Amino acid sequence: MQQLIERFTAGFKMAPAVAAQAPGRLEVLGNHTDYNEGFVLSCAVGQTTGFVLAPVAGSRCVIRDFRDNAEMSFDLSALDRNPPRNGSKYIIGMLKELRERGFKPFAFVAGLESKVPLSAGMSSSAALEVACGLAFSHVAGFDISPAELARAGQGVENNFLGLKTGLLDQFSSLFGKKDSIIMSDFRSVEVVGTHALPSGYVFVVINSMKKHTLVDSDYNIRRQDCENAAKILSGIYPGSRTLRDITPEQLAEAGKYLSDREFRRAAHVTGECARVKQAAGLLSKGDVQGFGELLFASHLSSVENFENSSEELDILVDIARHDPACLGARLSGGGFGGITIHLVKADEAADYAGRVRKEYLKRTGIEAEVFICSLGDGAKIIK
Ligand code: GLA
Repeated sequence: MQQLIERFTAGFKMAPAVAAQAPGRLEVLGNHTDYNEGFVLSCAVGQTTGFVLAPVAGSRCVIRDFRDNAEMSFDLSALDRNPPRNGSKYIIGMLKELRERGFKPFAFVAGLESKVPLSAGMSSSAALEVACGLAFSHVAGFDISPAELARAGQGVENNFLGLKTGLLDQFSSLFGKKDSIIMSDFRSVEVVGTHALPSGYVFVVINSMKKHTLVDSDYNIRRQDCENAAKILSGIYPGSRTLRDITPEQLAEAGKYLSDREFRRAAHVTGECARVKQAAGLLSKGDVQGFGELLFASHLSSVENFENSSEELDILVDIARHDPACLGARLSGGGFGGITIHLVKADEAADYAGRVRKEYLKRTGIEAEVFICSLGDGAKIIK
């Protein structure tokens, strides 16, 4: 962050008024449960996005991305137009969402730097939304709760970019806790538990390098499938509203009222909610083996029920299954490409990552990107 502040100051010949930082996130367990008002285990990662800014006169906003010194600029009138193609769309979208909540947008110059890998499934876009949202509201003295700021970030995706994602990414970026996995309830929208990652284990993130472009993917269709299934089930189980209200047993009983596809989508979500609760119990007992098995089970359900895996992701999880250093692995995030997370003994993590990369290259011809993740704190204002 210090470096970003210095670069900003040298580049714009002024000091920033605020510096904010927001991490990427890992979905540990609980796939596509957030928009079904279910449960998720997630964490913030050590990789963060920094956003510094100073207000200026006029209506022109300039953002320098210090990863490549590229400059993006827009006029405040862009808030009322279609999103541009570059990364400023997240910033414009956030200004717009905040404006809807009573904030008055102002012109600014900003500097941006990020270590969160792009389009991989670690929520680089949510990190940017949260970092800039924090910075804007701080400078303006605009009072917004962290949960509402997360909703504003979700609004950028839902309303501005047309992607019907849930609240997981922005929420985890804001509420993550160092060295911890948080359990969140997306009905009450709160953190309901915190678990230490079992000591001696780390998450290794292995990027399949097949980009998932969620907008172009079946994400919105998956959400629609879930909502259709929930609607039918609410007729059978009065009082139930979303798939969160349905247990795997209830689903099995009502299976005949759903199409095969709706049934499998619902089986994934109800199964994931049950696995999250089970995992929380196992983590409390320190049963790391059992916890790892649930990660594998989650991946299998993605393959069989939710159909949001890919050939590359399946190869990575298959390699994991055959390596004794790994206790569990699964795709993480939206799916359809992106990353896998692997629960691995810490002292074997580097060797493990090397082995998986080698085998993955052999089987696919693709050089995977690997991160041994530390679990970081949630977003904050630094200055
Ligand atoms: C993406 C979305 C999240 C969540 C996950 C799947 O990351 O942005 O809201 O739905 O996929 O769990």
